[in-house]
Amino acid sequence: MTPAGQRLAIRTPSDYIETGLRQSGTIHVKKPKEFWDKAAPRYARSPVRDEPTYQRKLAVTQGYFRPDWQVLEFGCGTGSTAIHHAPHIQHILATDISGRMLEIAEQKARDAGITNIRFQQGTLDSLDLAGERFDAVLGLNILHLLEDVEATVCRVRDALKPGGIFVSSSALIADLKLHWRLLIPTMQRLGLAPT
Ligand SMILES: C[S@@+](CC[C@H](N)C(=O)[O-])C[C@H]1O[C@@H](n2cnc3c(N)ncnc32)[C@H](O)[C@@H]1O
Repeated sequence: MTPAGQRLAIRTPSDYIETGLRQSGTIHVKKPKEFWDKAAPRYARSPVRDEPTYQRKLAVTQGYFRPDWQVLEFGCGTGSTAIHHAPHIQHILATDISGRMLEIAEQKARDAGITNIRFQQGTLDSLDLAGERFDAVLGLNILHLLEDVEATVCRVRDALKPGGIFVSSSALIADLKLHWRLLIPTMQRLGLAPT
């Protein structure tokens, strides 16, 4: 468990289901694309909340990478993590449901001179992976937003090469103090959290 109340898990998908992820709770998202398109500029401006923990997660993940690896990230947001990882692998397909997030991510990658990231809009269900298989799949700060986590983990398994790894870091909503959990519906009504 990290100090930020998140868990970094690097496991095979079958292990992952057994860790009790379903107990973590889920924010149900009715219109995720609209919410995240609107949130994108603010999200891009907001600093990483816990920089040492973020750096540690990057380092742990990069400890697994090999220079010839093909990586898929879903829910990549404005691309910061993909841009950090890109120099350590051969290629990363960075995907997100929000076109606005991806526009910002593409600009950031161009500014950083990174050329081995391909951005694609979509969800794990809608992406056209054309039978492509990956050495690693990253799903960071997203599992708690998805309605069917188990189906997502199955999709991840299908997208991985044999022996590939799934890296995920997710808020554990059920572990939040009660007053924070009670605030979620109000934040949703105010448009401050996905509904
Ligand atoms: C909390 S942000 C996390 C972004 C990034 N992974 C990070 O750690 O900074 C959640 C991201 O997931 C995207 N998202 C939400 N639902 C999604 C879905 N069903 N499929 C793909 N991306 C989704 C949002 O557009 C947003 O960019």
